[in-house]
Amino acid sequence: MTTARSTPNIALIKYWGNRSNELRLPMADSLSMTLDRPCVDVTVGHRDTLRVESFLADGTRKELKEKDIARYGKAIELAKRYLSALGAADAIPASLAIEIRSQIPPSVGFASSAAVFSALARAIAGLIADEIPLTNAQTSVIARLGSGSACRGIGDGYVAIKAGGPGHWTLHDIIIVPNMEEKKVGSTEGHATAHTSPHYTARVAAIREHRQRDCIDAVIRRDFEKLQRVAEEDCLDMHRVMQTSTPPLQYLNDETYRIVGEVRSLREREHIPVLFTMDAGPTVHLFCPNEGVAAVRAYAHVQSNCAIFETKVGKGAHLVEEKEFAHHSA
Ligand code: PMV
Repeated sequence: MTTARSTPNIALIKYWGNRSNELRLPMADSLSMTLDRPCVDVTVGHRDTLRVESFLADGTRKELKEKDIARYGKAIELAKRYLSALGAADAIPASLAIEIRSQIPPSVGFASSAAVFSALARAIAGLIADEIPLTNAQTSVIARLGSGSACRGIGDGYVAIKAGGPGHWTLHDIIIVPNMEEKKVGSTEGHATAHTSPHYTARVAAIREHRQRDCIDAVIRRDFEKLQRVAEEDCLDMHRVMQTSTPPLQYLNDETYRIVGEVRSLREREHIPVLFTMDAGPTVHLFCPNEGVAAVRAYAHVQSNCAIFETKVGKGAHLVEEKEFAHHSA
C-alpha cells in the first residue's frame, strides 16, 4: 500500500477542451499554481478487481456514483496501457484498491478531482517504483488520464515553468465558496462540447499566440498586474465558451458575479493587488501577493453563508510517510 497527498491546483490560463477526449489531451496550454491546502490523501494497493472508497473531511463515507467509479476504472485501464508501452506491462497485474480521504469540497470549482488524480498517480508511481521508477513527466501522464488538469498537480508551485524548490513567488489564494451544492454537469462532459461554442477557436488561438506566454512571463517577472490582466481575461473567456456551448454550461451564479464586481471595485478604490479566477463552479479564487492578503482576507470574512479557505502556493503530489499519514488522518 502506498499513500500520496495532493492539493488543488488553480489555473491562471485555463484548460478547456481536448484534442482527444479519451486520453484527455488538451487543445491548448494551461498554467496553474498548486495550493498548499486543503489536501487529499489517496492510498493504493494491488487488488484483483477495482475497489474505490471515498471519505469526506468529517470521516464519513462518500457514496460514489457509478459514473465516478467508471472514471477510476477507465483511468487505471489507460494507465496500464501506458505502462505497457513503457515496457512495464505487469507493473499493475490486475487492478487496484483505492482509498480517498479528502478535505476538499467536491464539485464546486475547487479543483478537487485534479488533487485526487494527481495524488492517485503519485501513489501508483510509489506502488510500482520497484517495477519501474517513473519520472515526474511520466507520473503526470498517468494523472492526466483521470483528469486533464491533474497533470499539473504533479509539479510544485507554478506549473508550466518547472521551477522546483522553495523559491516560488508567494501568492495567496483566498477562496470563497458561495455554495457547496455539487455541480450537475462535470468538466469531463464540458470539455467534450467545448468545440460547439463559436468562441472556442478564437480562445485556443489566443492562448497559443500570446496568453500562455504572457502568463509565464508575468510569473517569471513576478509582475502581478500583468498576471491579473491575462488570468482574468482567460477565465472570463473560458466561461464565455462554456456559456455559449451546446448545451450551454453556466457554472457561475449570482453570488459569483456579486463577488467579482465587489473585488473589481475594491481594487479600483483601494488599489489592492488581487485577481479573481473561477473554475467549473461558483467558487471564487482570489489570488494576491503578501501586500494584498490582509485586505482580501478581511473582505472574504464578511461574506455571509460562504465557506472561506486561506491557501497559498504549495507543492505538488508527493508520497506520504506513514507517520505523517497517521497524524493527518487522526
Ligand atoms: O481536469 P478537469 O477535467 O476536471 O477540467 C477542469 C478544467 C478547469 O478546472 C475548469 C480549468 C483548469 O485548467 O483547471
